[in-house]
Amino acid sequence: MKLLKKISKASASIIAGLIICIVIVITGCKASQAVAAKSGAQLWAENCQRCHNTPSPSSFSHDQWETIGLHMQSRALITDDERNKIVTFLKQSSN
Ligand code: HEC
Repeated sequence: MKLLKKISKASASIIAGLIICIVIVITGCKASQAVAAKSGAQLWAENCQRCHNTPSPSSFSHDQWETIGLHMQSRALITDDERNKIVTFLKQSSN
């Protein structure tokens, strides 16, 4: 009986551990989905005015935005995905 109790205690803590792991994985996924769901405009507003005012999208040509995107990506420490969204937004808004 004692052994059985020990075993059930052990399995209870294993189950508790598993539940904690599952919760961590689920909340982690939610966080990255939140980043993926952000629009270019949102990413632009959040990342591109830390260091300077955001120049109007119509200030630069499409080609210039491509180059600026590459330069500013390394400054803003954003991912390729985020840069693409921001540059697409800037090009669409510059017409
Ligand atoms: C860590 C600071 C920092 C962040 C974040 C940043 N920039 Fe800049 N940005 C600069 C500095 C410094 C300059 C001026 C020097 C240069 O052009 O490299 C500049 C210049 C610019 C210019 C002018 C370029 C020109 O040729 O006149 C534009 C447009 C620009 N940034 C857009 C952006 C966009 C879009 C983002 C967001 C993706 C961004 N910046 C994020 C620091 C930053």
